[in-house]
Amino acid sequence: MKTKKAASPAARRTPRAAAAAAATAAARETAPEESIAAPVAASPGGELAAAEAATIDITFADLGLTAPMLKALSDSGYKRPTPIQAQAVPLALKGRDIIGLAMTGTGKTAAFVIPIIERLLGGPKRTRALILTPTRELCVQVEESFRKYGKHSGLDVIPVYGGVGYDPQVKALRAGVDVVVATPGRLLDHLEKQNVVLDEIEVLVLDEADRMLDMGFAPQINRIVAQLHSYRQTLLFSATMPPEVEALARKYLRKPVVVQVGRRSGAATTVQHFVYPCPKDKKTSLLVELLKKESLGSVLVFTRTKHGADRVVKAIEKAGIEAGAMHADKTQGQRTKALEDFKKGKLRVLVATDIAQRGLDISGISHVINYDVPQQAEDYVHRIGRTGRAATTGDAYTFMCADEIAMVKSIERVIGQAIPRISVPGYDFGT
Ligand SMILES: Nc1ncnc2c1ncn2[C@@H]1O[C@H](COP(=O)(O)OP(=O)(O)OP(=O)(O)O)[C@@H](O)[C@H]1O
Ligand SMILES: [Mg+2]
Repeated sequence: MKTKKAASPAARRTPRAAAAAAATAAARETAPEESIAAPVAASPGGELAAAEAATIDITFADLGLTAPMLKALSDSGYKRPTPIQAQAVPLALKGRDIIGLAMTGTGKTAAFVIPIIERLLGGPKRTRALILTPTRELCVQVEESFRKYGKHSGLDVIPVYGGVGYDPQVKALRAGVDVVVATPGRLLDHLEKQNVVLDEIEVLVLDEADRMLDMGFAPQINRIVAQLHSYRQTLLFSATMPPEVEALARKYLRKPVVVQVGRRSGAATTVQHFVYPCPKDKKTSLLVELLKKESLGSVLVFTRTKHGADRVVKAIEKAGIEAGAMHADKTQGQRTKALEDFKKGKLRVLVATDIAQRGLDISGISHVINYDVPQQAEDYVHRIGRTGRAATTGDAYTFMCADEIAMVKSIERVIGQAIPRISVPGYDFGT
């Protein structure tokens, strides 16, 4: 239930925040729905090049950012905004609702965090921004990004996610915090217990928006959005957006601008990807054979099921390769440790289910291996996008058994490209 406020949010706003709110209102009143898409070149990989060419000369200072923000970005080692940042940040600063679509690993997090920080700077101490993510690990990562970009802003942020104790979260929420980054389930628990009030939220972000609006999450998102003021800015970001999900998304948005860099739902052009046709019962030995190659550095392996992940870990450990598993049947402590060890390079191989497929930014992953073909074409884009991030390159291999041929074809349709096949003697089933 919403509680009545003592004074209107506008009355408590600083002049700057009030101006931002007025800009939001003005933009909503006057702006027609529009779409900004970077020019698309004919060559594969040309899309990003074309988008980059359009924004190549833009600096962060050109975006009208404040000194503390410019300092934080330069501390982060960023020289220039990426195309999605150059295009989305000015619109978000104007208060527009945005559907931001750009390839994996191209800096979408900063594209929504930068304008939030700028909007909140110097404003009243209330929870004014809410960012929702589909997994606990992504929640923590976005919170860390917020701290990095907000280093000189004096803003407080907390991550709110499941699988860990309630008490520290309750304490932090009750003490008051500027920004909450949350997974939907745990946030709803806190809302039911009235540990947090969302009356003052001015900006809502759905990171991995198409996932947040699919059947699994939509009921929870609806319950959360029902608690928010309809007079807010809403920002949706993802590397993928099926048209039917975009149609659904529009009910949360007001006159949104679609900012699209490159081909919609395209695979990262920094990743070389291949399909290995392989009978189902030979996938484990093919994996071991590939892992024994020196050139495979840090490898993230995806399986369809939790059992499958455990089975693969056992099998490769038997072959003398140290590996860890990360899936929803592990405790949060085990999940965090496996991910940390993998990030630090203590663990060369991490075998995970879909919980690791979206958003995670782990530098140094040289290879992604789909032990099973993902069930959704969009999942393929996100999985292979765990490598080849921030202008680095990577490789992705997908093992395809006879039952999975049709799924690979449908992935190729969605990403708009054929994936080359690699045939390994003794494994190929002759496709
Ligand atoms: N302007 C920039 N210059 C250099 N590096 C950047 C810049 N912006 C972001 N990065 C880096 O790029 C990497 C990827 O960023 P981020 O995780 O935001 O990508 P993303 O687009 O959200 O990807 P995904 O779709 O997989 O979630 C991060 O390591 C980030 O630090
Ligand atoms: Mg992201």
